[in-house]
Amino acid sequence: MRFDIITIFPAIFDSYFNESILKRAQESGAIEIYSHDLRAGTTDKHRTVDDKPYGGNPGMILKVEPVVRALRSLPVLPKRRIVLFDPAGAQFRQARARRYTKLDQLILICGRYEGFDERVKDYVDDIVSIGPYVLSGGELAAMVIVEAVGRLQKGVLGNVESLNEESYSSEGYVEYPQYTRPEVFEGRAVPQVLLSGNHKKIAAWQKVHSRKPSVQR
Ligand code: 6GU
Repeated sequence: MRFDIITIFPAIFDSYFNESILKRAQESGAIEIYSHDLRAGTTDKHRTVDDKPYGGNPGMILKVEPVVRALRSLPVLPKRRIVLFDPAGAQFRQARARRYTKLDQLILICGRYEGFDERVKDYVDDIVSIGPYVLSGGELAAMVIVEAVGRLQKGVLGNVESLNEESYSSEGYVEYPQYTRPEVFEGRAVPQVLLSGNHKKIAAWQKVHSRKPSVQR
């Protein structure tokens, strides 16, 4: 699966996506991530991507032409979807992450400034928010969605995937309490049953102590 991120800060993504699980996911070929400078789609000397809104509000908004030029410069894979980030968009949930895993290409448009020209919406499939708060741009939202979708691609989670078969675990999230060494830390001991070696008892304990994550399935 290919991710194309359109942003005025393409370098923001380098450090996060080149560590840990998403780094390995790219190295294995499971995912490809590209960030594209929105300013590449400008033609004027100042590489302008924003302008004052008609009607005279304070602040600047994203212009439509650079966005459309950036979109048209991208390769077109068969199953693609174009997402625009907006705090007023549909709340991003695990169910959407799961749907997006079926795509060949996910294009993510990061806004900045005080919004965007309404006509940008005519060129996108989905308008998405990552939560009920206001950020200064869509870049963090893009990172959230690339990670949430990328980690669900085949082979990315490695052996954690096998946990999916257990009824009380899903999508690599383990729902029961877990412990590692030391056996006692500042007077707090690991539950004795987990040290017992009795796999039936351990499974029963884990089932009883499972807590569901607050995601919609
Ligand atoms: Cl997608 N964009 C911005 N600017 N703020 C947000 C958001 C997105 N999601 C939550 N807050």
